[in-house]
Amino acid sequence: MNVYDSEVAGGLLEHSGFKIISEPEEGSANQDADIYIMNTCSVREHAEDKVYSRLGMLGKIKKTRPEIIIGLMGCMVEEHREKLFKRFPQLDLMVGTRNIKELPALIEEVKQKRRQVARIKQDGISIEYTDQIKRTGTYHAWLPIMTGCDKVCTYCIVPITRGSEMSMPAREVYKEASRLVEEGVQWITLLGQNVNSYGGASNTVIARSPEGTTKQSTGTKIASASFGTLPRNDEQIRFPQLLEMLCEIEGLNRISFTTSHPHDATEELFQVIARNPKISRRFHLPLQSGSDRILKRMKRLHTFDDYKAKIDRLRELVPGISMTTDIIAGFSGETNDDHLLTMSALKEIRFDSAYIYKYSLREATPAAKLPDDVPLEIKDKRNHDLLALQKTILVENSRKMVGRTMSLFVEGKSMKMPDYMIGRTDQDKKVVFEGSEDHIEKFVSVKITDLRYETFVGKLI
Ligand code: 5AD
Ligand code: SF4
Repeated sequence: MNVYDSEVAGGLLEHSGFKIISEPEEGSANQDADIYIMNTCSVREHAEDKVYSRLGMLGKIKKTRPEIIIGLMGCMVEEHREKLFKRFPQLDLMVGTRNIKELPALIEEVKQKRRQVARIKQDGISIEYTDQIKRTGTYHAWLPIMTGCDKVCTYCIVPITRGSEMSMPAREVYKEASRLVEEGVQWITLLGQNVNSYGGASNTVIARSPEGTTKQSTGTKIASASFGTLPRNDEQIRFPQLLEMLCEIEGLNRISFTTSHPHDATEELFQVIARNPKISRRFHLPLQSGSDRILKRMKRLHTFDDYKAKIDRLRELVPGISMTTDIIAGFSGETNDDHLLTMSALKEIRFDSAYIYKYSLREATPAAKLPDDVPLEIKDKRNHDLLALQKTILVENSRKMVGRTMSLFVEGKSMKMPDYMIGRTDQDKKVVFEGSEDHIEKFVSVKITDLRYETFVGKLI
């Protein structure tokens, strides 16, 4: 979501006459810039510490160039608000996640008044669809469809920084996806803190009938008439129906989404994935822990068995689907037995990839009241053990792919091998193959012949 927000901010600033320049390398400031805007994340302490250290570095630049403007956007603004102005007098402006549109005007205000300014709205939706967006991709685009989260996972700051769930109306999502396709986009990743609990007002959706003619009607009715799936209630289009609507867009060839909660990963959603080959065969479903005791302490609303049963069903309906997950190591109260249950869960499910992080206590979350009682060296050890196990599983899973034939979307030329093209399978796995530039941005079939680290080598067929 932050990448999308940065693209929106960059586009709006460019249209206001600013030139966007990026960091020469991560963490180093471009000395020529007049304005420095950082988009921030609050999920873990480490991400916040990086922002604090960059604010310190920019403060030093400001001592010699007092005219520069330093700004923050994103979740840290929502979390700490005006308190940051006191702690960092070098900070000139803050813009909340629902106020990105006001960024150019705020910069103007700072320039004229030379005082600290903030706009942090507490309600409404943070999504801005705009054709002024500065997209970095050509064939791929991010498309946020909902923001916020109504779940209460005790470790998580997102419900505080992003607020309660708000969904874009289905009509707006459909229109924006169609606009992107007209711009040449073939692959869209739908975004949301809890994307599969999407529930957008149906309003009027513009949809294609099964015969392929475009028509306009009342959302709920047309969705059921055209796509054969009934929304759960008359007011809303749910995530599975939204996916089916988007699959109807001609020229849109691949649809991914992230991130999902197991509670909203329903049979209906699995059925929709199974019958629509345009939907990516990679499903990211955070597990967090293999121990029911810890899952309960995290208020995750699922047990390990519930989770496993969902994956089994999805794998039954969509054989070969690639599963990925998130794991937290060393949550409050986690014993060695709990940790071993998470290790067993990885062995049992055999994910293709797992984002594994040490628990980071976040003030203001419900878990801040629980002791952060796993010592750092044990957190480190558990984190390391989980990562090492997952790496072994990935290599074993990958070896099994050698010899298989796969459909590949060709993204471009390989940087290292000039005669080779690089693409991604429906499971989002990287493959290089000997080909020509004519293949770029097209789908091809390849037979996987080898595995080099995490990249597959394929032969065009
Ligand atoms: N500490 C560590 N990891 C966290 N996540 C969310 N909050 C925390 C925290 N306090 C992880 C979860 C989530 C992912 C986006 O970030 O695994 O799924
Ligand atoms: Fe955070 Fe995801 Fe839980 Fe929502 S569902 S509280 S975003 S971890």
